[in-house]
Amino acid sequence: MNAEELQPLRDAIEQSLEHFSAGVAGCPERLSQAIQYSTLAPGKRLRPLLALVACQAVSGVWRPALPAACAVEMIHVYSLIHDDLPAMDDDDLRRGMPTCHKQFDEATAILAGDSLQMRAIELLATELPPDTALGCCRLLSRAAGRAFLVGGQADDLAAEGRFGPLDFQDEEGALAHLKHIHRRKTGALIVASLQLGATVGGASDEQLERLGLYGEAIGLAFQIIDDCLDVESTAEQLGKMTRKDSKLGKLTYPGLLGLEASYIMAAELIDEAIAAIENLHQSTGDHSEVSVNKVGVATSQRANSNATEHNNSEYDAMQDALDTLRSLARFVISRKK
Ligand code: IPE
Ligand code: IPE
Ligand code: MG
Ligand code: MG
Ligand code: MG
Repeated sequence: MNAEELQPLRDAIEQSLEHFSAGVAGCPERLSQAIQYSTLAPGKRLRPLLALVACQAVSGVWRPALPAACAVEMIHVYSLIHDDLPAMDDDDLRRGMPTCHKQFDEATAILAGDSLQMRAIELLATELPPDTALGCCRLLSRAAGRAFLVGGQADDLAAEGRFGPLDFQDEEGALAHLKHIHRRKTGALIVASLQLGATVGGASDEQLERLGLYGEAIGLAFQIIDDCLDVESTAEQLGKMTRKDSKLGKLTYPGLLGLEASYIMAAELIDEAIAAIENLHQSTGDHSEVSVNKVGVATSQRANSNATEHNNSEYDAMQDALDTLRSLARFVISRKK
């Protein structure tokens, strides 16, 4: 799947986000507008694409993963709205537009973020088949919660020194702490995106684990590059303010290692990611009627049996999806925004 072949997935993501974020009786108009303003703003949609492509990589089809793809994007959008608030990174520009609290007001931005979190879980609970919904709710709520996305964001702010000094023995200690922050604030949702899509596709335990390794590696690389772009890019190019991290005193990879070493580290992570998914479509694990994977989800026989038939179009689609996962991994470091 090349960039052109990804277009139908991108179109379906945009349509589904529009559909799932539409206004509903009881939701005040201003809140609804803020939700749609931030959700439908032009993001890269990396997380929903990863969800769809992971589903295709294990089952040959991607459409069933659309609700899960939208759910992860909604969690991501909420995290951006809150990340931009004056109490956090205090940013005025996001996706080339005024941030939610600038366009509306702080209270509305907080409430739009709150709504998006719950809408994401509601989507999984109502739009997925009952045998996968529970496992997916568990996966996403854990990744977005106190020990991962939110915990990482709390430590990111603490590392500015705003709640008191941090005492690192040496650069190695600081790097280990930074990796721990980035894996949680950014990596966990990227892992969840892949595992949600794969769960919907009926992945085996081994496939979930290998996609998890791929996601951890590209997730960390993604935030390393985000830190680099903050140093070397422009607001015009990125659609968000630059040179903010050093101004706020953030702990970052380029801050600790410099740009060149940061890019080298990110490139190594991309190689690791690509190695983790080699022959993923053959790792179908248990071929009995229904197996139960690590997230407590029943693994469908359909997805498993397709993977064993080496001459059908779904199998070709699974191989195409693996190629796309490799391209998306490379995109993480070659991207300019
Ligand atoms: C920005 O994410 C926040 C980080 C986790 C670094 P993206 O760079 O994916 O932002 P959008 O979705 O394209 O706006
Ligand atoms: C944000 O990291 C990670 C989130 C969980 C939102 P940043 O604060 O570096 O993201 P940007 O640079 O504002 O997009
Ligand atoms: Mg931040
Ligand atoms: Mg920020
Ligand atoms: Mg950043």
